[in-house]
Amino acid sequence: MFNSGAFWVCRAFSLAMTLNEIFLVREKLLADLDQIAGADELEAFKLAHLTRKGTIAAMFDDLRAVPKQEKPQAGKELNQLRQQVEERFKEKETALGASGGGATRHAIDLTMPARTVPVTAPGHEHPLMKTLNEMIVIFERMGFAVEYGPEIEDDEHNFGKLNFPADHPARDMQDTFFVKPFSNWQASAETAPLLLRTHTSPVQIRLMERQKPPIRAIMPGRVYRNEAVSARAGVAFFMMEGLVVDIGVSMADLKGILLSFARQFFGNDTKIRLRPSFFPFTEPSAEVDVNCFICGGKGCRVCKNSGWLEILGAGMVHPNVLTACDIDPQVYSGYAFGIGIDRTAMMRYGVSDIRDFFEGDYRFLEQF
Ligand code: PHE
Repeated sequence: MFNSGAFWVCRAFSLAMTLNEIFLVREKLLADLDQIAGADELEAFKLAHLTRKGTIAAMFDDLRAVPKQEKPQAGKELNQLRQQVEERFKEKETALGASGGGATRHAIDLTMPARTVPVTAPGHEHPLMKTLNEMIVIFERMGFAVEYGPEIEDDEHNFGKLNFPADHPARDMQDTFFVKPFSNWQASAETAPLLLRTHTSPVQIRLMERQKPPIRAIMPGRVYRNEAVSARAGVAFFMMEGLVVDIGVSMADLKGILLSFARQFFGNDTKIRLRPSFFPFTEPSAEVDVNCFICGGKGCRVCKNSGWLEILGAGMVHPNVLTACDIDPQVYSGYAFGIGIDRTAMMRYGVSDIRDFFEGDYRFLEQF
């Protein structure tokens, strides 16, 4: 900071000396201004140098003592000094935000040319979301509502009410990620244990608890399984389940809906095949195959020469599941199905490693 009195002590020496001092003050003030990073500092600068009691005003006062012949030139220099400092001060004020917004705000240069977006690479849907969204549209067209639920679930919704016996291996640490919400969290009878949902079936339970039949909905979402990461499996993947509960719903309805879906999704000539299977929450249960759309059923590497591709699991909702949700299985029946999005997308696009979907390699993603 300047002491203008000390500054003008040297005025008697020569005009060159006076001008030199003005020059030095200018350099110092402008440099100080440059360093300023916050509204408070800027305000302090203003008080010290730009007010009526500030450095510059004092220098004008002292001008009276400057020898007459030197006054015009010194005055001119001093005016310039004031102008420059005020100008720079205003720029700084704008840069920091006029209302004292702090150091993080920056001036917006409206004259700067806009950034152009290359038309050859606009953003687009990720192949998994593209697959999922197409499926959602197909089911919406067939009158299904879309339901979502939490990814962190409790045991009751993920397993218990879905008719998993207490000792079912799927509850095992091998398959399920368990969640401990706080370091001092103690599992209680109602909450124990919390886990990352292993399928979207808990959304079916939540829906049936909330809404009584008729029910006709799909449940898309991300699910988690504690599996070794490989080309065919990851620890998280997407799936979409469906649930229909009403009076007189039969296996024939399930077959009809799945065939209709398969034809809309894979092509009009698609055939489906149901093989007996097992799920705790459906009875009877089936594994559903479509004829291989790569080789048309002749046999190829993708379908392992069988001509068929397994795409989903399905079945009639187990009476225990309906009962657990306060729906009378004597009155109502229903079907459910679940389809893996990642596996379907792999088959559809001929992707041989599931990890490609998650690594975000632009060269991979650009192909879809
Ligand atoms: N929930 C099953 C799974 O995650 C899929 C499924 C849903 C199977 C509904 C049958 C009926 O594998």
